[in-house]
Amino acid sequence: MPPEPGPCIAVVGATGAVGREVLTLLSARGLAPHRVRALASARSAGTAIPYGDTLLPVVELTADAFRGCAVAIFAADAQTARDFAPGAVDAGCLVVDNSSAFRLHPEVPLVVPEVNGELIGRRGRLIANPNCTTIILLTALEPLRRAFGVRAIDVATYQAVSGAGLAAIDELHDQTRDALHPETARNGSPNGEPKPRVFAEPCAFNIFSHDSAVDPDSGVNGEERKVIDEARKIWNQPDLRVTPTCVRVPVVRAHTEAITVTLDTPATEAAVRGALAGGAGIEIVDDRAANSFPTPRKATERDPVLVGRIRPDPGERPDEHGRRRRWCLIACGDQLRKGAALNAIQIAEHAGVLQPGPRQAAGAQTLTAAV
Ligand SMILES: NC(=O)c1ccc[n+]([C@@H]2O[C@H](COP(=O)([O-])OP(=O)(O)OC[C@H]3O[C@@H](n4cnc5c(N)ncnc54)[C@H](OP(=O)(O)O)[C@@H]3O)[C@@H](O)[C@H]2O)c1
Repeated sequence: MPPEPGPCIAVVGATGAVGREVLTLLSARGLAPHRVRALASARSAGTAIPYGDTLLPVVELTADAFRGCAVAIFAADAQTARDFAPGAVDAGCLVVDNSSAFRLHPEVPLVVPEVNGELIGRRGRLIANPNCTTIILLTALEPLRRAFGVRAIDVATYQAVSGAGLAAIDELHDQTRDALHPETARNGSPNGEPKPRVFAEPCAFNIFSHDSAVDPDSGVNGEERKVIDEARKIWNQPDLRVTPTCVRVPVVRAHTEAITVTLDTPATEAAVRGALAGGAGIEIVDDRAANSFPTPRKATERDPVLVGRIRPDPGERPDEHGRRRRWCLIACGDQLRKGAALNAIQIAEHAGVLQPGPRQAAGAQTLTAAV
């Protein structure tokens, strides 16, 4: 059979944690391997990377790597995005960038399709994927914002190590193995303490404040600042009060967020639950009798953001109609999937560049050149 014709999708940073997840999702959609270009640094050029039941050659990212591509999903660092994303746009690609390089640029849409997908296609061919913590937070809260308005968010995060990339997963595995088998420990310092490579603190059997830099004046760290700034931009609410505390936990994959949201319009529990139950991209996991709520394990390799532990803030008295403004909940989302790769693919789908093809019923997806 002749190879399926059509433009390619370029995945920049294909060898990393997010890039590999993009490949997993593209292969699950049935995109033929010859239409996927796996790009990475010179370090991994010449190697091969799994794609479904085959392997893709990894090619070094260069300025002309985007020829013949309709979409470029960037899953590398911010500097690489700044260096190469504008060229990919010039080469005719719709570019979706996972890094922080363009997120706050006033001309670049910052998009969670379930929240502000209407921006796709309105302005330019470069779209920024928000920070993973922000995507999970706003996907969970969007139904409440639509129904009642939101004036404030307090959120404590419990973030998986893979948010810091592939090397951080190895670090958690190595430190865990060493702690459980000290007689064969390979990664410790002479005093037996783990010798971190990615994080400044040991990550196995430990919890620590998020590894992004802390602003010396405000005390807010980089991750918390992203959540504040990006939530305000995505919801177009410059005065939104966001109070995050971001923490790393010894979980491989999927972030957990304990959220208290303050609504504009007070609501009953039935109304809050009703709004959340109809929310796009959300699955409710909320069984008080069984004490069963969202967990990172339940969210891992799942598309939806899991939402549960839905309850009124016990510190607020209800009004005479039983309504309150402040509501507590827990959200768990796979930050490599909905927090990065899936969100980027959804954007390309919304843009009409990655369109459901005739074989979609069998799980396939095809690319079209139309943007
Ligand atoms: N991890 C998450 O949960 C998550 C979520 C949302 C957004 N993000 C963002 O997504 C991006 C990727 O994160 P990650 O966690 O996947 O990181 P990662 O596992 O460390 O992977 C980084 C990738 O970037 C490639 N790369 C580095 N320098 C490059 C260069 N000069 N030219 C071409 N490719 C280069 C690496 O290729 P080599 O193998 O050749 O080094 C690798 O494929 C980052 O901007 C991150 O902030 C991450």
